[in-house]
Amino acid sequence: MDMIPVATVADFKSTNHKVLKILGRLIAIVRLESDTFIALEAACKHQGANLFENYTNGTRLTCPRHNWVYDLVSGECKTNNSPPLRKYQLAIEDDKIFISLTPLEE
Ligand code: FES
Repeated sequence: MDMIPVATVADFKSTNHKVLKILGRLIAIVRLESDTFIALEAACKHQGANLFENYTNGTRLTCPRHNWVYDLVSGECKTNNSPPLRKYQLAIEDDKIFISLTPLEE
């Protein structure tokens, strides 16, 4: 699986997440409270709003537009019948964070 560099661990000294637009896709890199990193789709499954617009911490993501709620770790939508948010493989080498742009299988 091809991995591309998207950030560094040092980028997360003063924030727990970054939202990147890569090849037209909104993807969030998140440092969880356990200090592990995950990468997942950041666009709401309803109308594509940035799910991280008002995010500060925790595992609950609430869409700023119409309040659909997702579980940050599983990507599961908790309020509506929707497919889960896509997750992406992430690897850290030295200080660099890499992700694959091929979503992981659900
Ligand atoms: S765009 Fe997210 S709930 Fe409508």
